[in-house]
Amino acid sequence: MTEPRIALLSSAAAALDDAGLVSAYSVADRSTPTLRVNFVTSLDGSATVKGLSGGLGGPADKLVFDTLRRLADVVLVGAGTARSEGYGAMRLPDADQQWRVEHGLAPQPTFALVSGRLDLDATSDIFTKAPVRPLVLTSAAAPADARDALGEVAEVVSCGDDHAEPQLIIDALISRGLPQILCEGGPSLFGTFIAADLVDELCLTVSPLLEGGAGIRISHGESEAARRMRLVHVLESDGLLLTRYARAR
Ligand SMILES: NC(=O)c1ccc[n+]([C@@H]2O[C@H](COP(=O)([O-])OP(=O)(O)OC[C@H]3O[C@@H](n4cnc5c(N)ncnc54)[C@H](OP(=O)(O)O)[C@@H]3O)[C@@H](O)[C@H]2O)c1
Repeated sequence: MTEPRIALLSSAAAALDDAGLVSAYSVADRSTPTLRVNFVTSLDGSATVKGLSGGLGGPADKLVFDTLRRLADVVLVGAGTARSEGYGAMRLPDADQQWRVEHGLAPQPTFALVSGRLDLDATSDIFTKAPVRPLVLTSAAAPADARDALGEVAEVVSCGDDHAEPQLIIDALISRGLPQILCEGGPSLFGTFIAADLVDELCLTVSPLLEGGAGIRISHGESEAARRMRLVHVLESDGLLLTRYARAR
């Protein structure tokens, strides 16, 4: 057996500027569909501090979070995350919009929510202040009244009979010209995608924190097979590790 290669992660390297960060997270071919998932975790594996992810990140994590949004065609979020994290309308800053247009992208990514029960407030900013009509990905079994109310402010798409099938979610986005998919969680939606073997990338920030409580993990599901990923890079900022992993082929 060959010895594993072990090397120091040096934080002495030059800091990445905006272009460097974009380059670090760009994909080789934007027409090839990519499901990229972005999470932050504590050192002891918690996805939350006091029920929210906000206590785990930091300025560098926020920069990467914003960069990933800037590069995405669509930002996909499970309803649980939208409810608990209090998502509002997703609107990128003017400078990011300008950057996107200069690079041939739509000014704003589309926002897409996955929900079975459709317990979503159609009058919330998520919908009423969205710069692009959001998508709601659900199933044929969703309550008709909620579907009608949301249909006023979003495009409601059935992606299965009794729940939203992960492959049909992806297909719905690709067929709308949105192949670069950024999923911002949460753990249930991520678990669904892992089980269906649809995850192409995980951008995982490891925060230098011990949460110590009963925080949830970044994924929760019924996958029967562990999936191997390949390290693309590790960036470091103030003790925070910003990792990018891709599907091992
Ligand atoms: N550390 C991080 O980076 C991070 C990121 C995101 C979230 N979080 C944390 O994760 C927690 C939320 O966890 P969660 O598992 O509830 O989040 P989630 O995966 O965003 O939401 C779960 C909900 O999404 C909908 N859903 C997911 N898959 C579905 C499918 N295949 N078909 C139909 N609906 C589907 C269902 O919504 P309905 O109930 O409406 O049917 C389900 O209840 C929060 O505490 C949040 O702070 C952490």
